[in-house]
Amino acid sequence: MEIIIHSSPETSTQVAARIVARLLREKPAAVLGLATGSTPLRLYRVLINMELDWSMVTTFNLDEYIGLPPDHPQSYHTFMWENLFSHINIDKENIHIPDGNAKDIPEFCGKYEKQIRAAGGIDLQLLGIGTDGHIGFNEPTSSLASRTRIKTLTQKTCRDNARFFGSEQEVPKHVITMGIGTIMEAHMNLLMAFGENKATAIAEAVEGPVTSINPASVLQMHPLVKVCIDEPAASRLKRADYYRWVYENKPAWQTF
Ligand code: F6R
Repeated sequence: MEIIIHSSPETSTQVAARIVARLLREKPAAVLGLATGSTPLRLYRVLINMELDWSMVTTFNLDEYIGLPPDHPQSYHTFMWENLFSHINIDKENIHIPDGNAKDIPEFCGKYEKQIRAAGGIDLQLLGIGTDGHIGFNEPTSSLASRTRIKTLTQKTCRDNARFFGSEQEVPKHVITMGIGTIMEAHMNLLMAFGENKATAIAEAVEGPVTSINPASVLQMHPLVKVCIDEPAASRLKRADYYRWVYENKPAWQTF
């Protein structure tokens, strides 16, 4: 894991944007795994302003609420179109977001996995992290080998996401999410986290034991993970000085 600490979400996002932009320039037909929520919002704005060529890019979103119509203001379909897809030259046919209204959800999930494989696998997966350590919507105790499937959100996640819905009761309890096994097959994972409320989840994920209690900790077993965080999110890391030192002393060919 490479831990990249910057003073603010803005400067941290610039690094993440350079990583994504480099991939799209080097591999125009790249396959990107995308996340929603508040964390990647700035990144999407920066990427839009970079005016990259998305015409051959394929995307797979991590997750979607079950039962929300795709045009619901809080569906991840709406989120992605409003915050990214409407502003770039991506081919609609290349966009994949889990269908939270699929009649047969297990069948849909199997198909989603096959589509990822048929696209050649995910080159770069963007990840946020829940305050409970979830990645995608793989909540604590999710199988570390899980595939795309239905999950029930924890009450904590429902409380965290109530800010988007108005009340906790309105947050759907069920979601489709890529599994942890699915995420682990991405060539690179790029995890972003900002703010003090992510500090415990980040410290456990980076420096704690690998455990399904903090699903993000499984990334310690992944060969290529970059963690872009701000100072408040880094505030509980015991080895933060070492991570800063490593970043400051990166060989020129490794910089972004
Ligand atoms: C969203 C997702 C979630 C979020 C996480 C953090 O697609 O997969 O894991 O990344 O809940 O959400 P924010 O960024 O709103 O704090």
